Amino acid sequence: MANAQTPEQKIQELRDEIRHHEYLYYVEDAPELTDSQYDVVMNRLKKLEAEHPELVTADSPTQRVGGKPKDGFVKMPHSRPMLSLDNAYNEEELRAWDQRVRDALPSTEAVRYVCELKLDGLSLALQYGAGSHGSAHLERGLTRGDGSIGEDVTSNVRTIRSVPLSISAAKLKAAGLPQSFEVRGEVVLPQAAFVKMNEEREAAGLAAAANPRNAAAGTIRTLEPNIVAQRRLDFYAYFLLKDGEFLLPQQSTTLEALRTSGFRVNKYAKALKSIDEVVKFIADAEPLRDTLGYEIDGVVIKVDATAQQRRLGFTGKAPRWAIAYKFAARAGITRLEDVLFQVGRTGKVTPVAALAAVSIGGTTVTRATLHNADEIARLGVRIGDFVQVERGGDVIPKIVVVVEDKKHARGATEIVFPELCPVCRSPLMKIEGEVDWRCVNNSCPARVREELLHWAARGVMNIEGLGDAMVAQLLGQSAELGGGLEAGSGDDAGQVVTEEGAPVATRKPVIHTIGDLYRLKREDLLGLERVGEKTADALLAEIERSKTAGLARVLLGLGIRFVGERTAQLLAAHFGSMEALEGAASQEAEKASEALEAVTEVGPKVAQAIAEFFAVEKNKDLVRDLASLGLTMTAEKRVTTSTLEGMTFVLTGTLPNLTREVAKERIESAGGRVSGSVSKKTSYVVAGEEAGSKLDKATSLGVKVLDEAGLLELLEKGAA
Ligand code: IVH
Repeated sequence: MANAQTPEQKIQELRDEIRHHEYLYYVEDAPELTDSQYDVVMNRLKKLEAEHPELVTADSPTQRVGGKPKDGFVKMPHSRPMLSLDNAYNEEELRAWDQRVRDALPSTEAVRYVCELKLDGLSLALQYGAGSHGSAHLERGLTRGDGSIGEDVTSNVRTIRSVPLSISAAKLKAAGLPQSFEVRGEVVLPQAAFVKMNEEREAAGLAAAANPRNAAAGTIRTLEPNIVAQRRLDFYAYFLLKDGEFLLPQQSTTLEALRTSGFRVNKYAKALKSIDEVVKFIADAEPLRDTLGYEIDGVVIKVDATAQQRRLGFTGKAPRWAIAYKFAARAGITRLEDVLFQVGRTGKVTPVAALAAVSIGGTTVTRATLHNADEIARLGVRIGDFVQVERGGDVIPKIVVVVEDKKHARGATEIVFPELCPVCRSPLMKIEGEVDWRCVNNSCPARVREELLHWAARGVMNIEGLGDAMVAQLLGQSAELGGGLEAGSGDDAGQVVTEEGAPVATRKPVIHTIGDLYRLKREDLLGLERVGEKTADALLAEIERSKTAGLARVLLGLGIRFVGERTAQLLAAHFGSMEALEGAASQEAEKASEALEAVTEVGPKVAQAIAEFFAVEKNKDLVRDLASLGLTMTAEKRVTTSTLEGMTFVLTGTLPNLTREVAKERIESAGGRVSGSVSKKTSYVVAGEEAGSKLDKATSLGVKVLDEAGLLELLEKGAA
């Protein structure tokens, strides 16, 4: 009866199959299944797991998007500090480093180096612990943090497809790995995923991320694992540790073992015998930059032998046994043809350089940011000048310098910063101590337009169908504006308006404020150009649906300065309702800042911005209006912080990763209590190695016993 499999066996088989195909796809880049074939297998597993919820385990491929992180991330110490690297900017500095390395080691010893690409992302530490059937499973992912203490971003890390959630006993054996170990490496956002993410944000009137590294860093610290899963982060492994020490005697064998056990290791890494070979490696690597599909900013050179590394040791914050060779930024020279002025949501006016098209590192560049009036003065640039333009990992190229020998050629004209808003013609103002000029007219059509686009954006209120063209129609403006930077700049993207192109109200506006959106009627929409019944009904349904987006989204949508996705979530979780937040912010200054700064990660600057927002009558009116229109102004119930409410834990023995203090802190922050002695009332005994009499007592009293993995699972999923 070969087919008589139990559901458990069938589930196991499907998981193995999916893991194998994920590995082929994400690590080997050599898929054997099409996406839809893969989906079929995944759906079969999902269905079986739905029928047998008791068989769902945290390391199942269906669980990549699992529990939500709480309001903020728990801080955790690293097993060994995550250091940074010293840099070399040219061959001379590199050779000097090589000399220092060889001088510090006995002259009889050969020194081998491993060269790796320097991936422009952020480093992560992944901790694995013993799973079932001799496997290892992902227990925790930590950001670098300050190097000593990182943030627990496990729920987000789990969504990264090239991070194995579990590694079979067979793979561990083949790679020579124990069941518990730590892997360190770099998270990157591939360029294609970065472009896609910014296109979506730009289309929705949201601020674009400046470069893939910032986008990756922001994504890994987002409080919604669903968003992280959509963004397609990638992870490249480069270190393997056990109890804070390198596990293997060489960096080259480490990379090999990581590869064998199923991690993605960058294919360009190479072991080399001399500094001359390293110099050659670097020369060969630089032109790769435009072909890789992810950003690199140099080459990391590491002494291969761990024993030599140990003898070389560290200086301050960096090891002596490794160095980062940094590439120069990619640059080109072109002519500044004009300067356009862009008005953003907050009224900030940004000068944008219109350039004669120039190709830099394979991309045609026609726009660059000039940031603000001070920057123009600093550069001393005029229209008609030749300028050097640099493109880092940034979307928006910048002008770095005026080319001296071609400076102020005949006919070059001074850039005049406007005194009036190029859109509504009201005088521009400058807040003391700030460099930006702003249009302070709350009803400036450019600002209202940007406010509405931001409100409707994906990731904010998510109103499908309320894009550029529709917003322009609703405001009675011409839709043929735009054409600014390739993507928005900072938190204040906006439309570019030239002398001729100021948006004129071509028709009577249908709406004036965000609140008006929720008063729109079918007839209003049917009166617009190219809007049929289907479009009108779909948009109305979307607007209606957005009412339940919840407090965090509303806060984000209001566009309070410095309140981005994450801060909005933290504020919503902390205060629970708009009323509570407004109440806190509207007290006298000292009390308001105290109440606001009690929120994780909110400092004086953010607190002040929130207080200022609620001090403006128009903003308070808007908030009241939205509440009376039926928008949800409360946060989702806080589940995760009280999952262990009413439970008592006893810790005994040494846990493989968590110190006793950290375990206690995590139990308590989830609402549980930690006690020193076992009784019948104890909910769980958490037992590690060399657990003593407490474990015996638990067994005799029939108290449930957990290992570290069981505790972490409980913390993540809750007890219910
Ligand atoms: S080794 C102590 N290897 O560069 C050793 N780092 O500037 C430090 N990075 O914080 C890490 N690619 O985020 C190493 N192949 C690579 C890397 C790499 C990128 C990053 C990493 C580190 C930073 C130091």
